[in-house]
Amino acid sequence: MSDKNSGNMPVHIGFIMDGNGRWAVKRGLPRKMGHREGAQTFRKIARYCKKIGIRYVTFYAFSTENWKRPQDEVDELMRLFNEYLDEVEEYAGENTRLVFLGDKSAFGRDMAQKMIDMEKKSADFDGMTLMLAMNYGGRDDIVHSVKKIAEMVSDKEIGLTDINESLVSSLLYTGGMPDVDLLIRPSGEKRISNFLIWQSAYAEYYFTDTLWPDFSTKELDKALKDYSSRSRRFGGV
Ligand code: FPP
Repeated sequence: MSDKNSGNMPVHIGFIMDGNGRWAVKRGLPRKMGHREGAQTFRKIARYCKKIGIRYVTFYAFSTENWKRPQDEVDELMRLFNEYLDEVEEYAGENTRLVFLGDKSAFGRDMAQKMIDMEKKSADFDGMTLMLAMNYGGRDDIVHSVKKIAEMVSDKEIGLTDINESLVSSLLYTGGMPDVDLLIRPSGEKRISNFLIWQSAYAEYYFTDTLWPDFSTKELDKALKDYSSRSRRFGGV
């Protein structure tokens, strides 16, 4: 990034990794090849974010609705996630903290355990926090938080007057992380698709027609430049 942008960098960037299927179909390839290429883009962009000093990044890797996709596509995504989980040592060296957003139990015991181990191993790394939303849905996240609050009320740990925005936030999967500043969606779609809906309440949005496998560090620089020129008022004047 050039110096002129460095004064107004987002603390937390969210990426909706969309357009893998179309990228593959355009080339006459099976959709899963698009996910394979998309996984490489994910690695490249995550590394670049770390390099330029972004503190928090979240990638939407698998939604609570993605289980409805054809089995071979779901299997390929699970294969890619498992390959990535096996790279844990590489990230240990990079001082990156890894956090998974969503209900891990749906991935089966072995994979869920790997995810928990990876979170534990990297818990004290403070270079960058990399969050992967997997089996994640924004509404599900809010329900999950609300259930915890209901339990606390029913156990008389808290009363109704203790329920406020910061309590709800703290009990989301992103508890303790800052809200999203910049949300990037490639592939020409202009919607949020149940991604970090609470956390993106005041996010700036950046849309591009580029399909995720083609998303480049140059394109990210462009998004950051665009972000740095925006005036954020958070409801004020
Ligand atoms: C949406 O594109 C993308 C997904 C449902 C999966 C995203 C996952 C990856 C890029 C793999 C990430 C890998 C790791 C290791 C974290 P789409 O298939 O719906 O695209 P389309 O709209 O063109 O069909």
